[in-house]
Amino acid sequence: MRARLVKLAFALAAGTLIGVGAAALVASRIDEARAPDIQGMLWPEPKVVQPFALVDHRGEPFTLEQLKGRWSFLFFGFTHCPDVCPTILSMLDKVARELGKEPMSNRDVQFVFVSVDPERDTPEVLAKYVGNFNPDFIGVTGANESLTSLTRQLGIYAEPEPPDGHGNYSMDHGTPVLLIDPAGRLLGVFQSPRGPLDVAERFRQMRRFVTG
Ligand code: NI
Repeated sequence: MRARLVKLAFALAAGTLIGVGAAALVASRIDEARAPDIQGMLWPEPKVVQPFALVDHRGEPFTLEQLKGRWSFLFFGFTHCPDVCPTILSMLDKVARELGKEPMSNRDVQFVFVSVDPERDTPEVLAKYVGNFNPDFIGVTGANESLTSLTRQLGIYAEPEPPDGHGNYSMDHGTPVLLIDPAGRLLGVFQSPRGPLDVAERFRQMRRFVTG
């Protein structure tokens, strides 16, 4: 099993063309398997993510293509968030470190922070912000309509609160961590993660289920 996993991870890392082949491989594995009882796994009907167009913290396009061929942890928030966002991002850094102990794993797992506050969170602001938590984290933003097209299909709530006298405002937003599989499907939702080791373990179980 290990050899197969490593082979799959390598294929997943190797770009779009091979990524398509890997997605097919993943799909065929799933047909053979029966779903185990993994908390937070959306099965048997994981939601297929529809195309969207955003930009990352380097100003590069971030679209559905960037989700394919690898595992993605997605978290939605905003850089002015006083507590929840920093707490979750610190937790995700620990998840990344835990998964980084696995051979090859750092090649096929990415962590993406999507800002729901594009007004203030430019790519430059996001670059500094996510880099504070983990140098490999990806910050994503975009036009309001583009963000909504992603948040709505993933069921993420995000609304600005009324500004104070200085024009400062907060964002009310949903805080689940989402797991997108290499075929671009919403496979898991971590609602109130108990801790990084719990998240890493459930992720491993879901990945094992999908990759065989
Ligand atoms: Ni927040």
